[in-house]
Amino acid sequence: MDFLGLGLSNHDFDEKDKNIIIDYIKEIKSVINKKQYDNDTASIILPFENEFVTNSSKLVKKLKDANSFFLVGIGGSNLGTMAIHSALAKQFDNSNSKKNIYFADTLDPNKIAQINNIFINELKAGKKVVLNVISKSGSTTETIAIFSILEDSMKKYANYNYKDYVVITTDNDSKLEKFAKENEYSILNIPKKVGGRFSVFSNVSLFPLEFMGINTKKILEGAKDAVNDSLNKSMVKNDAFKSAMYHKYFYEKKKIEIVNMFLFYTAFEDIGKWFRQLLAESCAKEFNNNNKKVNTNITPMVSIGTTDLHSMAQLFLGGKNDKLHIFLNVLKNNDSLKTRNKGLNNVSDGIFPNSLNDIYLNIFDGVKSAFIKRKIGMYEIKLDCADEYSVGYLMQFFMVMTMFLGKIMNINTFDQPNVEEYKIETKKIMKND
Ligand code: PA5
Repeated sequence: MDFLGLGLSNHDFDEKDKNIIIDYIKEIKSVINKKQYDNDTASIILPFENEFVTNSSKLVKKLKDANSFFLVGIGGSNLGTMAIHSALAKQFDNSNSKKNIYFADTLDPNKIAQINNIFINELKAGKKVVLNVISKSGSTTETIAIFSILEDSMKKYANYNYKDYVVITTDNDSKLEKFAKENEYSILNIPKKVGGRFSVFSNVSLFPLEFMGINTKKILEGAKDAVNDSLNKSMVKNDAFKSAMYHKYFYEKKKIEIVNMFLFYTAFEDIGKWFRQLLAESCAKEFNNNNKKVNTNITPMVSIGTTDLHSMAQLFLGGKNDKLHIFLNVLKNNDSLKTRNKGLNNVSDGIFPNSLNDIYLNIFDGVKSAFIKRKIGMYEIKLDCADEYSVGYLMQFFMVMTMFLGKIMNINTFDQPNVEEYKIETKKIMKND
């Protein structure tokens, strides 16, 4: 991964923050070495664990005759899997030979009705399906409600021992785990201190991704290297450290609250959405660790190049200079398509390079250059290619960067207390219904 920071020198880094991260790195190293699963940063151990891959692969082998996978989960229980699956699976495949995965990640009754119809049709056609319910707390309204519908459909239409194909991924000792035991469903656990948005390298994602034939070992290799680079490289070369410092600098010194992940790789859109949750839930806090009201307001958004140049570029360039952009680019693209000027000279101005990929890269450079001219804050991440290793590296990099950022902002990176507010109100309304 090539990482280019723009418009900020090492002198702008705060010495105090630098020392905080140096101490934090020591703590995290000890968490890994001693496998301290009771530490808030426990997710960092996951790339070094074989146990979860082994458990997931065993279960996948047992269920290998299933045709499709229905994942019921929301937020951190779903976004990481969806991000990796979209990044690595073919976007369009009409071969009919592959296994399908469906994400039931919203309570929108229209979407769930469609998913339930597909589910029923598969069962009626005599195909086996896996129903994987993922909820760390085991009590998320959306997840449990959707599960109740699909479980009923399974009971009604499956002509095989469906219980073998229901897998519950949850915390040890959650109510959902108890329910799974009572119903003889398979159980995969999530380590207690690994929160949803940091759980992508646990059973939460490994099991569905393994089922879909994605090489999870390679993903973990990338993640492991990202951890090692973030903990062992000197500060000058440490991208996770530098990136966290940039974010804090732009937020506090330049009063820039919006972070736009600008992805010049369409298949990474869901990585952008996963990152949006990671940054928003981790770094937007009402109170800091000293219980002082701070309302940190780092606000992530996602844009896709080149599509969104035709909807957002006017705002980015002509609007207020109030955003920090992370440009993400993949160097190795499909370079098989050739364009032409011949016969199109009047409309192409005769300047098309003869490869579609070259035009893509030229536009990327053009956008960067326009942003630089306007002194708009940004940094750039270049991936050589979009394979399992790179995706694992990239996601782990962002998780470490977020931990560093939360630490230097003196907030609790790992909780999300305000999300409870809508849940409490909803439960009140449901009780009165
Ligand atoms: O990151 C988080 O902790 C949240 O987004 C959760 O993943 C989300 O609320 C779903 O929770 P649960 O897995 O308990 O159903």
